[in-house]
Amino acid sequence: MTRSYPVALGGRAYDVVVGPGLIDRAGERIAPLLRNKRTAIVTDSNVGEHHGERLSVSLERAGVAVDVITVPAGEESKSFEGLADLSDRLLALRLDRGDVIVAFGGGVVGDLAGFAAAIYKRGIDFIQVPTSLLAQVDSSVGGKTAIDTPRGKNLIGAFHQPRLVLADLDVLCTLPAREMACGYAEVIKYAMLGDADFFAWLEAHSAAVLDRDIDALAHAVGRSVEMKAEIVAEDETEQGRRALLNLGHTFGHALEAETGYGETLKHGEAVAAGCGLAFRFSAALGLCDPADAARVERALKAAGLPAGMADVPGHPFSADRLIHHMGQDKKAEGGALTFILARRIGEAFTVKGVDPDTLRRFLIAQGATP
Ligand code: GLY
Repeated sequence: MTRSYPVALGGRAYDVVVGPGLIDRAGERIAPLLRNKRTAIVTDSNVGEHHGERLSVSLERAGVAVDVITVPAGEESKSFEGLADLSDRLLALRLDRGDVIVAFGGGVVGDLAGFAAAIYKRGIDFIQVPTSLLAQVDSSVGGKTAIDTPRGKNLIGAFHQPRLVLADLDVLCTLPAREMACGYAEVIKYAMLGDADFFAWLEAHSAAVLDRDIDALAHAVGRSVEMKAEIVAEDETEQGRRALLNLGHTFGHALEAETGYGETLKHGEAVAAGCGLAFRFSAALGLCDPADAARVERALKAAGLPAGMADVPGHPFSADRLIHHMGQDKKAEGGALTFILARRIGEAFTVKGVDPDTLRRFLIAQGATP
């Protein structure tokens, strides 16, 4: 059931391995990649609680020396302070360029440790061992690393590809249901943007995926990773097609900003609501059949995810405030609003320079306040 998905980036190519039991066998996969047989595992307290020392034990069994750095769990670690603290602890360990950082955790740990690896002594190799569904299908693959600033999320960062990604499906068994649903939002996003057959498969198998059926997970995670690997290999630094991975994100980020980037609306939920809105906006602009937008909404709701603004706590939101947040988005070029919209399920495309008045009318029609 274990399968490797190559990310074809020439001299920086790497594999994303998807399957059960990978943490306990991580040493044998990681050791051959190491020059110095020395690693620093960066993790957080939650991961330690659920997975204990299994990764260290596996590495040590393969003859790899291990130091473990535990950072506080939560988005606050993805900050300049968190980065300074982690860098200092790596320096205190005298980690050098031939050594490797292993990011063992969810998206926060992966983004923080990956960015630290990108700049530590001008760059050191790192490996991702993602422990959330969201990190397995999205953030651990493709080399985007970043921290947040008070002005916004992921604004300071670097493209730094990992040497290997090990996505152990067993770790998903201890993931809270809400976190599973958040990861599922990114899974179904791949289907919506580029694979109608995968979308139909997910319509039939969402319960199995969310119940952690291992075969269903292997297909859902595997197909997501395969699609991301293919897009990243074609457009590593997001000059074109990679932007399609941001389907649902312009609307989603605005809703996250309005709800305070916290427990009220988690990132995956914001992406789900954003995808629902992106399809409805596409339908409102006459780009896509309203029946596709309705089908997207049903699929999101079947997974317990929000499918539009009315499903988000805090509704109704102010149209002007939402548009203001959209203008702050990294993807907004020179203030022009960029959206990923859809012609149908499985076919997304980028639209630049969306007219703010048209957008405003759409948001108000969706229940936002004028
Ligand atoms: N999460 C979107 C990307 O990696 O491009």
